[in-house]
Amino acid sequence: MRVGFVRRLRGGNVHIGLHPADANALPPMQPGQFVEVAVDKAKVLLNRPFSIFNSSPECLELLVKPLGRASAAIADYEEGDTLRVIAPLGRGFSLPEAPARVLLVGGGVGVAPMYYLARALNERGIRPVLVYGERTAPDPALKELLSRHAELHICTDDGSEGFHGFVIDHPAVTQGEYDYAKICGPEKMMKFMHNYIATNKNWDTEFSLENKMACGLGACLCCVENTTTGNRCVCTDGPVFNLTELPW
Ligand SMILES: Cc1cc2nc3c(=O)[nH]c(=O)nc-3n(C[C@H](O)[C@H](O)[C@H](O)COP(=O)(O)OP(=O)(O)OC[C@H]3O[C@@H](n4cnc5c(N)ncnc54)[C@H](O)[C@@H]3O)c2cc1C
Ligand code: FES
Repeated sequence: MRVGFVRRLRGGNVHIGLHPADANALPPMQPGQFVEVAVDKAKVLLNRPFSIFNSSPECLELLVKPLGRASAAIADYEEGDTLRVIAPLGRGFSLPEAPARVLLVGGGVGVAPMYYLARALNERGIRPVLVYGERTAPDPALKELLSRHAELHICTDDGSEGFHGFVIDHPAVTQGEYDYAKICGPEKMMKFMHNYIATNKNWDTEFSLENKMACGLGACLCCVENTTTGNRCVCTDGPVFNLTELPW
């Protein structure tokens, strides 16, 4: 695919837009599905999985947090560069119909699948509540995007913006009432949310897991997660699993 834009955001995340290299339209993609990117510039052997931040027939958008070699190399791509991408992969979020009260929770770059998910919910007549937790105040451009399709609440670890504390303590989580919740973020945060919701709430809840992956296609078994129905590949059976499937 051809890089159409690279926006380096405050806080370190990179928002990147990719266009098909030929005249063909991109295939339809579901919120919560992911793509595998061959990051040739990083000279790493394995592709890296990234959530679909947004998608249309002309453009696939990703939100990348530079953490290690491959993700940092993505920030070095420029408009016009090409990247090899396999898309879409995995099983996405289920999409309720209106009227339904939906809570979305994104921790760090776990917010990446929430923009496209909120957009799809809007198309079904639902405006979700989105609680987005970061270490420090996120980029205004990212906030503007996220608040287009959701009632956005920011939490920061350092108190530089919004609620000072963790997403699990935000009043929109503790005092809100919902029919559905969709959550993505660091494993520790998702396990806290799992226990909290299982004990205190009656919300139909899904988690998007970010286990380390190698093939992304169900062949190497390195992404396996223990579930209530046995060991399952996050890349093909997930990354989205229902709360009841995860014995956390
Ligand atoms: C389904 C799925 C969707 C993902 N979506 C996104 C996304 O939208 N945006 C994004 O930036 N990243 C996403 N990731 C994580 C991404 O694939 C890479 O793992 C991450 O960018 C680090 O890769 P790297 O090669 O740069 O770092 P590495 O050299 O592999 O690791 C560098 C550091 O990052 C840590 N790390 C590696 N993988 C993860 C992980 N999955 N979670 C937390 N820490 C990790 C390592 O322990 C190490 O400390 C997703 C992962 C999965 C499985
Ligand atoms: S990453 Fe290889 S089986 Fe899932």
